[in-house]
Amino acid sequence: MSGSRHLLSVSDLGTDGIAEVLRVAEAFAEVERRSVPKVPTLRGKVVATLFFEESTRTRLSFETAAKRLSADVLSLAVATSSVKKGESLRDTVETVEAMGIDAVIIRHSSAGAPHLVARWVERAHVVNAGDGWHEHPTQALLDCFTVRQVLAERKGVAPDELGIGCFEGLRVLIVGDVRHSRVARSEVLAYTALGAHVTLAAPGSLLPPSLEGWPVEVATDLDAALGDADVVSLLRLQAERGSGSFVPTLREYTARWGLTARRAARLGEDAIVTHPGPMVRGVEIASDVADLPRTVVTQQVANGVAVRMAILFLLLGGELPGTAEVPAVA
Ligand code: NCD
Repeated sequence: MSGSRHLLSVSDLGTDGIAEVLRVAEAFAEVERRSVPKVPTLRGKVVATLFFEESTRTRLSFETAAKRLSADVLSLAVATSSVKKGESLRDTVETVEAMGIDAVIIRHSSAGAPHLVARWVERAHVVNAGDGWHEHPTQALLDCFTVRQVLAERKGVAPDELGIGCFEGLRVLIVGDVRHSRVARSEVLAYTALGAHVTLAAPGSLLPPSLEGWPVEVATDLDAALGDADVVSLLRLQAERGSGSFVPTLREYTARWGLTARRAARLGEDAIVTHPGPMVRGVEIASDVADLPRTVVTQQVANGVAVRMAILFLLLGGELPGTAEVPAVA
């Protein structure tokens, strides 16, 4: 990640950059296990979250990450801001930057909005927290981090010991509304950069109009594909992006593409199930399956904080925790 000023896409990182994020995130996961999970790393820095679209976990996760690094956090409540009076994105960003902020975390319903913001800011670092159907890089990074953590736990070794070699040849099956999913796009980039094989399983209407340039295979029969998967990444139907009209009925969708209990029984003993949340129980995942030990949704949420601490640290600079010079904040 060294050298890149913003995190707009997983492709800004490359394989080495992803490995670096995972390594640094391990150090911050250790901070999180301390009785006072806070370090002075980014004291004096200001991080602003600009969420133009709904979010529960991503926004809380970034804000928690920034606070654990001792940064000050400004959170623009778009619904009650001047955006509602017709202020342009550019003017909002320039106003926020004039307050002397160091990082802007932006979520927007339009693909490319974070890229525009990155062109407009003079000194702030920009992090994409989800832009339309396009990308959600930190989600993909925390998914990879979680998968490696589970693999390491099973082997009884530290995740760092596995490095990124554990992804080589790993079979990742991404299931559901790939067409409208920024998580899927970032996951494809991240997992394939790490050497995993990615297969998409979705009805034709929920696949992207063209898969040219996507280093993936497509499975048309979910039941057959499940038995081969090491990791199953489930996606929510993005109803806010019109996905409802791409499937005949929800019941039909669940019957063919949902991870029902009957289908989950086809999974290999060690298969891991991920979901970025929010889950819609009974649609893409049966409630019983959501609560199985192999479904690591809560672990993903917890790891999101460490991964976002790593991103902020790598972009904004600071001392790595665990090194002697960095005392915990009392
Ligand atoms: C995802 C998103 O917003 O793209 N959620 C998240 O950030 N954890 C996925 C989704 O909303 O389905």
